Amino acid sequence: MISIKELEMKKIKDLENQYPFILSFFENNKLNIEGFEDSTLNEYLNHFTEEEIEEWAIDIPKIKSDLEFYINQMIQFLGLEKDIINSITILPGKDKYGNKENFDSLTIKKSEIVSIVGPTGSGKSRLLADIEWAANKDTPTERTILINGEIPDYSMRFSTGNKLVAQLSQNMNFVMDLTVGEFLELHARSRMVENEEEVILKITEAANELAGEKFNLDTPVTGLSGGQSRALMIADTAILSKSPIVLIDEIENAGIDRKRALNLLVSEEKIVLMATHDPNLALMADKRIVIKNGGIYKVIETDSKEKEILKELEKMDKIINSMRTKLRNGERINSY
Ligand SMILES: Nc1ncnc2c1ncn2[C@@H]1O[C@H](COP(=O)(O)OP(=O)(O)OP(=O)(O)O)[C@@H](O)[C@H]1O
Ligand SMILES: [Mg+2]
Repeated sequence: MISIKELEMKKIKDLENQYPFILSFFENNKLNIEGFEDSTLNEYLNHFTEEEIEEWAIDIPKIKSDLEFYINQMIQFLGLEKDIINSITILPGKDKYGNKENFDSLTIKKSEIVSIVGPTGSGKSRLLADIEWAANKDTPTERTILINGEIPDYSMRFSTGNKLVAQLSQNMNFVMDLTVGEFLELHARSRMVENEEEVILKITEAANELAGEKFNLDTPVTGLSGGQSRALMIADTAILSKSPIVLIDEIENAGIDRKRALNLLVSEEKIVLMATHDPNLALMADKRIVIKNGGIYKVIETDSKEKEILKELEKMDKIINSMRTKLRNGERINSY
C-alpha cells in the first residue's frame, strides 16, 4: 500500500516508472503532465493557477485521494502487493492426537531461511501445505497462517495468478507436450517479462549447472530425468517467480547440486522454508522447526557450534559428490 504522503513526494517520472498504469489516470482526469516529469506530484498539482483551478474544476485533495485509491487497487489487482510481504506467522493448531501444539506463535521474517525436520510421516509436508494454502483453521492441523501479522484476505489466498508461494514440485506432468523452450516461453510470457529470450537462456544455464547431464531448449519436458526436471523447476522458480515465499520439499532426493540450488533460491527478498532430512541443508538454515506427531514440537536456532560443524559437513559432502561423479563416469573409487 502506498499513502498520499508518499505519493506527494515522488517525482512524476518515478511514479510513471513504478506504476506505468498511472498514465491512464492522468489522461482520464485530463491532467497534462508533459514537461513535469522531473517535478514531484505535489509540485505538479500546485503549479495550477487559481483561474485554472476554477475553470477546470480541479479539486486537488480529491485528485490525490483518487490517485492513492487507484494505485492501491491496481497494485492489488496486478498482484504487485506480494512484494510487501515482510513476515509470515504460524499460530498453533493440533498434532495428530489432537493435542495443542507446543508454542505460542512463530514468526518468520523476510530473508530468513527456516528448515523443517522430523521423522518420515511426521507432518513436514503438511506444514508447508498449510503455509501454501495460508491455512485458516481449515486444514487437518487447524493451524492459522498470518501474513504481515494479519489473516490474508480472500483474494490473496485463492487467486491463482497471484501466487503467494513458489512451491517446488517434482511433478511436471502438467506441461506434458512441451519442449523446455516452449515451457519457459509460456512461463516467461505469463510473468510478462520484457527480455524473454535472455531470461529463458539464464534459466536453462542455471538448471544445467545444477543437474549433471545437460539438456537444451529443444528437449521435451517429458524427456527430462527426475533430477533435470527438478533442476529446471528450481532455476525457473528462482529466476522467474516473484513469489515472496519459497517452499522447498525434499530438495535432496533429486541428485542435483543442493547447495547451489539453495543459493539460487535464497535471496534477501524472500522467506524460505524447506523440509529436509539432510543435516547439511538443515544447518544452512537460521533455525529449524522440529515436527513430531504432526505438531510443531520445538524451534531450534542454529548456533555457532553447529555452523562450525556445517563446515565439516560441507567437506564431507564434497567428498561424496566427487565419488558420485566417479561412479557416474564408470570409474573406480580408490581414494578420497
Ligand atoms: N496435525 C496433523 N493432524 C492430522 N493429520 C496430520 C497432521 N500433521 C500431518 N498430518 C498428516 O500426516 C500425514 C504425513 O504427513 P507428511 O506427509 O506431512 O509427513 P512428512 O513429514 O512430510 O513425511 P516425509 O518425511 O516422509 O516426507 C499426512 O497425511 C498429513 O496430512
Ligand atoms: Mg514430506
